[in-house]
Parts: sequence; C-alpha cells; structure tokens
Amino acid sequence: MNPTKSAPVTGGGTSAEVRRDTLTIIDNRNGRLYEIPVKHDTIRAIDLRQIKIHETDFGMMSYDPAYANTASCSSRITFIDGDKGILRYRGYSIEELAEKSSYLETAYLILHGELPTKAQLANWSYHVTHHTFIHESIKKFLYGFHYDAHPMGMLISTVAALSTFYPDAKDIFNPESRTKQTYRLVGKMPTLAAFAYRHSLGMPYAYPDNDLSYCGNFLNMLFRTTELKYRPNPTLEHALDILFILHADHEQNCSSTAMRGVGSSHVDPYSATAAATAALYGPLHGGANEAVLRMLLEIGSVNNVPAYIKSVKSGEKLLMGFGHRVYKNYDPRARIVKDNAYEVFDVMGRNPLIDIALECERIALEDDYFVKRRLYPNVDFYTGLIYQSMGFPVTMFPVLFAIPRTSGWIAQWEEMLLDEEQKISRPRQVYLGQDLRSYIPLEHRS
Ligand code: CMC
Repeated sequence: MNPTKSAPVTGGGTSAEVRRDTLTIIDNRNGRLYEIPVKHDTIRAIDLRQIKIHETDFGMMSYDPAYANTASCSSRITFIDGDKGILRYRGYSIEELAEKSSYLETAYLILHGELPTKAQLANWSYHVTHHTFIHESIKKFLYGFHYDAHPMGMLISTVAALSTFYPDAKDIFNPESRTKQTYRLVGKMPTLAAFAYRHSLGMPYAYPDNDLSYCGNFLNMLFRTTELKYRPNPTLEHALDILFILHADHEQNCSSTAMRGVGSSHVDPYSATAAATAALYGPLHGGANEAVLRMLLEIGSVNNVPAYIKSVKSGEKLLMGFGHRVYKNYDPRARIVKDNAYEVFDVMGRNPLIDIALECERIALEDDYFVKRRLYPNVDFYTGLIYQSMGFPVTMFPVLFAIPRTSGWIAQWEEMLLDEEQKISRPRQVYLGQDLRSYIPLEHRS
C-alpha cells in the first residue's frame, strides 16, 4: 500500500461502516498515513518497509528479540492456546491422543496430517522398525567418546554423522527421498540414544528387536543383559509411549525453529536434526527435565522447599520446570505426566522426590510471585521423576525428549521446504556499533 496524506486520524472508536481488515499507521515524524493489510490478526513485517522519511531510507523494520511476538511461518501441524492450556496435533487434543493413540500412530499423524488407516499404520510401523539398525561404523564413532561423555553430545554428533552415510538425503525436494530419511531418522534415533547410553556404562550394545513395539524395542536396547528375549514391562512400555506422544511436537519452539532455520539453507535433514537436537540440549528447553531433577536433589527435603522458593523469588535461581513462553496456564502435558508418574511408581516404587516436587508446586501455585507472572509447571517438571524411577540416569533425560521430538522436527522441516513463501532464514539486525573509522597501526594504539 502506498502512503497517503490525510487528515489526522482520531483513534478509539469503531463503527461497522469503517471496519476493514487493515491497520492504519500514522508516522508522527512526517504525518504520513499508511494502511496495511491484516490477515489472521497479523501484519506482514515487510509491509512496514514502505514507512520511511526519505526515499533513500531503508524503511522501517520491526524489532523482536527472541521472536516473542513474531510468526516466522504459517503451520498446520500443532495448535497451542497458551492462555487456556490447550495443545492439539493436527486438530486432535493431546489428552485424547495420550489416552487412545500410540507414539508411532501420533508420529504418522503429525507427519501426514491424518490418522493412518490400519494398512497405513502397518506399513509405517514396518518401515520404521526396519530402519532401526545403524551402520557398524557408528559404533566405532561412539568408541571415540570418553566414558562419561554426555549422551546428548553423543546423540548430536552421531545423528549429524548419519548424513555422511546417506548422501542421498541431500535430495531434499524428492518426496521419496524425504520419506526414506524419515523412516531412517524416526527408526534410528532410539538406537543412537540407546547405544550412547550403553557406551556410558561400558556395556556391549544391544541390537534392535523387530518383534517389539517402538518403545519396547528402545527399552530392550537400553536394558537387555543376558536374557535371550527381552520382555519389556508393559506398564513402563506404555508410560514411555505416552511420554513420547506428549513430546512429539510443540510448534515453533527453540529446536523446531533451529530445524527450520538450518533446514532453510537446504542442508540434508540429518544435519538439520543435529542442530535441532543441540537446541533442545539447553536447560531452558529440553535440558530442563535434567535440571529439574538436579534441582529437586539440591533441595533435598520438603522442609527446604520454602528456602529454595525464597531464593527463586530473590532472582538467585529459577524454579526449573516452571514457566513457558506460550503457556500462561497449566501445561496440559504436565497434567498427563503427573498422572502417568503414579502408574510408574506402582511398578517401580514411589520416587521420594515427588514429595519435594509437589510441595514446590503447592507453594508456587499460591505464591504471588508465580501467580502474577503466570508461572505454572511445564512438561519437564514431572517427567524427570518418571525417568528416574524407570532407571534412567539424569543425563539421559533430554535424550528421551529428543527421540519423540524427531517426528515433529521432520514435519516442521518438510512443511518449511514445501511452503512457497519460505526462503533461507536470514533475519535483519539493528546495527548500533561503530561508524566507519580508520585502521590504527598496532604501534599507535594506546
Ligand atoms: N522460575 C522463576 N522465575 C521465572 C521462571 C522460573 N522458572 N520462568 C520465568 N520466570 C520469571 C522471569 O524471571 C520473569 O520475571 P520478571 O518479569 O520479573 O523479569 C518472568 O517470569 C517472565 O519470564 P521470561 O523469562 O521473560 O519468560 P520467557 O518466555 O522468556 O521464558 C522459559 C520461558 C521457559 C525459558 C522460562 O520460563 C524458564 O526459564 N523456565 C525454566 C526452564 C524450563 O522449565 N524450561 C522448559 C520449558 S517447557 C519445555 C521446553 O520448551 O523444552
């Protein structure tokens, strides 16, 4: 839209006659008025570029550190209403999927947009199951890691290394190639994760068992010792499957933004997934489940909770597993995880840290500091307790997030690739540094 000179606009009132899907902006620097289209309650940042004082100016930009109020894409995968605490994949509520679906079925839904038919599910499960083996050279790669290497570091490196085994993955605009890489990525992530875990214990790797479910096989590769046939505990297998469903996607978070951003350079999906996994590793994102457990161990007893909360309120610490950029209500995943925890405790015994967690939650939900800031438990608050009860070391917790999130990352990546409006990710900056100046030879610098 071109700028128009007009009489000053008096704001405030609305009337049916003047209602248009546009936004009017007055530049008070020169009194110019602009009318910008509004679609889906959003304006296009590029429409601001026409706002300038002089013809030669670059034009106005929007400044939004951390993308707090910027949509970087349109998406049809995951819906979140943070105020109401709603999460849906492809229109299905997380509560219903957690109750009725399986991880592989949910992954299919996220990737394809629809729930599979019986035949589609069988075909999808078959292909994922038959892509769980990894090249033997990856084992040699793992041998290079120190015995106490963090499994997330091993996972990031080995998933990146997969790109060197599958050069066909570079053919990203070929749908058949994308399907193949999807089978491989969803199939191999648990194997890479389990091998990293066995490496840290110095135990021989346990190979995949095609007779078992996705989660059953993962437990087999992690925990199998001398038994000829590993039989996963069905309650634990089911609990893990639910956790995998809850973690499968979460729209434009830090790691899917990394997946889209890195993928937008048209690199292969293994390299982009390594970048997304690295983003997930941080304690403000998927690493929070590990940080929560370390925090609960540091608190040590229910009696110490008030002192810890005090240190959070004074800004010394964060209450890990609390707060979310989008949810300003109870994270619906946290509610399901909490219920799920008790089912695991029935099999494995009650995790004593649950009492500390419950006390943190009780105090926080009543305390003005948290209420005012709308800080509620997020998905990571209770997951660590379940993982610990299942026998996982804390370093494996973010890995348990990365495995199921892989299907979400691939769906986000593919949606980005096929979106005609998308290009290589390349934000602008507001440069506040030095203006041009002359080089000073070393001997003249004071
Ligand atoms: N403990 C104490 N204070 C907090 C917390 C917390 N966990 N989270 C936010 N706040 C405060 C924050 O200090 C700020 O206060 P003030 O207005 O006085 O400056 C206010 O609440 C708003 O927080 P913010 O940091 O501006 O919010 P954000 O949207 O930038 O950050 C977050 C979101 C998840 C990074 C943050 O809440 C946090 O660091 N939480 C702890 C880490 C965590 O649990 N991360 C997992 C997120 S869910 C799963 C995932 O995405 O992987």
